[in-house]
Amino acid sequence: MENEQQMMETYASRQLELLLRNGLNRAIVKGAVERVSHPYKELMAYYRCAMMVVAGKFNVLSEELSLEYDRNPIETIKTRLKTPESILEKLRRRGLPVTVESIEESIHDVAGVRVVCSYTSDIYALAETFSRQDDIRVIETKDYIRTPKPNGYRSLHLIVETPIYLHDEKRYMKVEVQFRTISMDFWASLEHKIRYKKDLPADE
Ligand code: GTP
Ligand code: MG
Repeated sequence: MENEQQMMETYASRQLELLLRNGLNRAIVKGAVERVSHPYKELMAYYRCAMMVVAGKFNVLSEELSLEYDRNPIETIKTRLKTPESILEKLRRRGLPVTVESIEESIHDVAGVRVVCSYTSDIYALAETFSRQDDIRVIETKDYIRTPKPNGYRSLHLIVETPIYLHDEKRYMKVEVQFRTISMDFWASLEHKIRYKKDLPADE
């Protein structure tokens, strides 16, 4: 009888030990995951801010243009943040290390702003106005309107840098701005869907 009770107590204390150890392991794993994911979350937050700054600039221009003219050349302004899967896929495809430094250095389209205009001439006028702003640095221009991609893709792409003001720091972040007309946007979204259905490599 006594022996049975002793066995039960040993069993209970082993269970408790296991439970505590598991809990501890989980806490260690959670801590490690957080240590790795925090810098990533922080970087994504900075990109989100930069994306808001750039979209805000186009919203300001849109407000002004709709007051000044009887037609607003800006149809829509869309924003998107690249998904973690897509970031990982791009790093792997380019054989780059999976680190936040490598994301910031090499992936220029984490933050994306798409401006859809009525006419091609609106695109060039708007891109020019935007590029002239004091806090916009144009890093790269790809004009797929003058030189469409072989598949017919057309858009004007600018990679720009814009500062975001954090509480103790001014940080320059890259944003990809895509300018398109309504018909170019229509074409690109259809082509994207067709490619997706065929399961060909995605680009974003
Ligand atoms: P990605 O690795 O795809 O970002 O390409 P890249 O860094 O060489 O830049 P590029 O200017 O070619 O493309 C940037 C973005 O433009 C893509 O992420 C898409 O949003 C868009 N894009 C480029 N080519 C195509 C295309 O053929 N079809 C569609 N639908 N979108 C495209
Ligand atoms: Mg892309």
